[in-house]
Amino acid sequence: MVIRSCNLETVCGPTSTLPKNDLPEVAFAGKSNVGKSSLINAVMNRKALARVSAQPGKTQTINFYNINDEIYVVDLPGYGFAKASEKERESWGKMIETYLNTSDMIRAVFLLVDIRHAPSANDKQMFEWMDYVGYDPIVIATKADKIKRSQLDKQIKILREGLGAGKDTIIVPFSSQTKQGLDTIQDFLDQVIEN
Ligand code: GTP
Ligand code: MG
Repeated sequence: MVIRSCNLETVCGPTSTLPKNDLPEVAFAGKSNVGKSSLINAVMNRKALARVSAQPGKTQTINFYNINDEIYVVDLPGYGFAKASEKERESWGKMIETYLNTSDMIRAVFLLVDIRHAPSANDKQMFEWMDYVGYDPIVIATKADKIKRSQLDKQIKILREGLGAGKDTIIVPFSSQTKQGLDTIQDFLDQVIEN
């Protein structure tokens, strides 16, 4: 995909009304600090349109990026952020849930998990829930630059088993540093745009 334009069009907090968009949407979910905003910057070929931080809990709103007036890339708040209060965690969880449950423009849902670790209970819950709601989540295994190539198959297997994902679930190793996997993700977006 060629990026002709991209801009952060809508930002939704816990009390905002979700936008009624008329373009297809693709959503990126995953625990705090997993690399959602970094991936979105890589997709948009921008260094810092989506705010990235070493501090978990950076993205606390649902951010809709309009790309080329063709598609919305949606950055969801990270879940499982340990330092957040119970109340905050609940409100982010509700926001994510409400969005995934109510938007009729979502055409693909991506779940980001860290390639280095077995999925957390929250990751598994999110995967199961997405599946239950009727999405066919595509798993993105982030920070692939942090492992050796020789560990790749083993880590993917750990992720698949830990999430309880079937053999048909696509798992894409990705690195926002090396851009490994970026073309695969762009192909998914192109497919969404063309359909
Ligand atoms: P929240 O907004 O808190 O939910 O986090 P996020 O999922 O948006 O993560 P973000 O993109 O802000 O990245 C978190 C940290 O991980 C930052 O320090 C990034 O530089 C780092 N990071 C993200 N992607 C990669 C990657 O592919 N490789 C490496 N080595 N570091 C990464
Ligand atoms: Mg973020």
